[in-house]
Amino acid sequence: MKNTNRLIWFNGEILPVDEAKINVLSPTSQFGINVFEGVRCYWNEEKEQLYIFKFNEHIKRLLNSVKLLSLECSYSEEELKEYFLETVKANDYREDITVRQTIFLDGQGSWSSTGPTSMFIAPIPKRRAFDFDKIGLNCSVSSWERIEDNAISPRIKVGANYLNSRMAQLEAVRNGYDTTILKNRQGKISEAPGSCLFIVRDNILITPSVTSSILESITRDLVIKLAREELGLKVIERDVDRTELYIADEAFLCGTAMEVVPVKMIDGYKINNCEGDITQAIRKLYFSIARNEFYNYKEWVTPVY
Ligand SMILES: Cc1ncc(COP(=O)(O)O)c(C=O)c1O
Repeated sequence: MKNTNRLIWFNGEILPVDEAKINVLSPTSQFGINVFEGVRCYWNEEKEQLYIFKFNEHIKRLLNSVKLLSLECSYSEEELKEYFLETVKANDYREDITVRQTIFLDGQGSWSSTGPTSMFIAPIPKRRAFDFDKIGLNCSVSSWERIEDNAISPRIKVGANYLNSRMAQLEAVRNGYDTTILKNRQGKISEAPGSCLFIVRDNILITPSVTSSILESITRDLVIKLAREELGLKVIERDVDRTELYIADEAFLCGTAMEVVPVKMIDGYKINNCEGDITQAIRKLYFSIARNEFYNYKEWVTPVY
C-alpha cells in the first residue's frame, strides 16, 4: 500500500485518506486544538513482523494530553490501541512506517469548547530524519524561547505547540543550519523543535530535566534507561547552560521522528567527538530493540500481525 492512497481510520470508519473531510470552522482548523501522537512501527524482515515501538507510552501520553486540554473524549486506552492496530492492518504494511493518531476539536465551536471531538489514525510518510551521507547535524541555539508550562505547556503534544517549533526551525534553516536548540524562560537549554537533547561530558550523559520546558519525551526516557542499564553510564537530568553545548564531548538529538542522531556543530563550535562511542552505542541499541532483535526489552515492542 502506497502512502498516497493509504487507508485511515476516521471516526470509526476505515477509508481512503482523500475521503476524510473535516469542518473548516472546527476549532482544530481555526486554533490548532488537537492532541496527537506520532508512533513508529519497525519492520523485522527475518521475523516478517511489524513492531509498534513504545505503544503503551504513546497512548498514555495521548490521554494525558486529552486530560490537560479538557477535551471530551470517551475512548479507553484499549479502544485507542484497537483502532490503531485496525488501521495498520488495513494497509498491510510490511516496512517501517509512522502512524499519527490525532484527537481533535470538531464541530463549529470556539477555542474554549470542549467537544465534540473526532479522531483519525493515519499512516504518514516519514523519511529518516538523518541522511547518513552527512555526519551529524549542524545546529544553532535559537533566538526563539521555548514555550513554558505557565503559558502553553510543552509537556504534552498539542498541535498549536508546534508554532513555537516552526518559528525556531524556519529561522535555523534560513540561517543555514539543519535544526536548532531552544532555551527556556530561565535561559537554560530545553530541547530542539521536535526532539530532545543529550550531551556527553567526561563520560556522563547529561540532559535537561522534565521541568525545563520540554515535551515528556518517550525516547528521552528510554535513552536514560538504556544508558544506565545497558551501558552502565551515569546519567544526570539537570539545567544545561548554553556554553556547555560548545564544549561537549558528544551531543545527540533523539525522538520518535528523529530516532537518535548525532550533532556535529553548535553555533559554529565543533563537537569534540561527533558520532562518538556513546552516541553510537545508544543508536545501535535503539534500532535493535525497536526491531525486536534484542530481547531484554520485549515489552517495548508490540507485534501488529
Ligand atoms: C517538541 C518535541 N520534543 C521532543 C520530542 C521527542 O518526543 P518522543 O521521544 O516522545 O517522540 C518530540 C517528538 O515528538 C517533540 O515534538
